[in-house]
Amino acid sequence: SSTPDAPTRNVGPEYRPETEKPTATVSSELSHQNVHILPQTPQLIALLTKIRDGNTQRADFIFYSNRIIRLLVEEGLNHLPVVEHTITTPVGRTYSGVKFEGKICGVSIMRAGEAMEQGLRDCCRSVRIGKILIQRDEETSKPKLFYDKLPEDISDRWVLLLDPMLATGGSALMAVEVLKSRGVPEDHILFLNLIASPQGAANFAEQFPKVRVVTAFVDQGLDDKNYIIPGLGDFGDRFYTM
Ligand code: PRP
Ligand code: URA
Repeated sequence: SSTPDAPTRNVGPEYRPETEKPTATVSSELSHQNVHILPQTPQLIALLTKIRDGNTQRADFIFYSNRIIRLLVEEGLNHLPVVEHTITTPVGRTYSGVKFEGKICGVSIMRAGEAMEQGLRDCCRSVRIGKILIQRDEETSKPKLFYDKLPEDISDRWVLLLDPMLATGGSALMAVEVLKSRGVPEDHILFLNLIASPQGAANFAEQFPKVRVVTAFVDQGLDDKNYIIPGLGDFGDRFYTM
């Protein structure tokens, strides 16, 4: 490809001087307020390195993807509203904390988005999960909607929309249209995503400025087949069938 290599930066723990830190590719920055990129910690970069590596086999791909997905879910939950909640500890002292108030559900964009369901279940016991089957046409990259099954009361819920790859943005945009057509307000949708292209993330943020996006990394761009670069290839294939 003619695209130059992605920029790199020193990364590593704070106690190491800059000169002793290794360099790693950095996430592109976006000016859109509603796109939140996970902190680029050495842990996250090591996990991303594993899943991007073309030599990583399926068992490891699943294991390391799941660890990133867990980070995304935990960060996504930080965007839900909480109310004050004071409790008494076993030693009789009070602790003024908070608790989440409201109903949530997950919605996965099949098939790759289903890989994120377990991470959501691990954090939100017995969470309801809706499904939207959207597939990109392999020739044109245009998304096609085949099926959806969503909780009846989805318009009263905060929706965690799940898809690991945001390339052109077509699939995610279509999924949000489906949710809106069922009465979900845009500002009640949180899109959890592993890797975004800058153009996909920008398209999405411009079209739906009230939908919050939580992503682990904004990559360099798209290749001529609309695959994310450097990317990780086809997430669904690597997680389910390769
Ligand atoms: C992939 C991916 C997204 C979509 C991203 O799914 O999981 O849904 O492509 O591309 P876009 O932003 O250009 O729409 P795909 O349609 O390949 O199906 P899969 O999940 O079955 O692999
Ligand atoms: N879907 C994927 O799984 N990977 C890409 O790079 C683009 C779309």
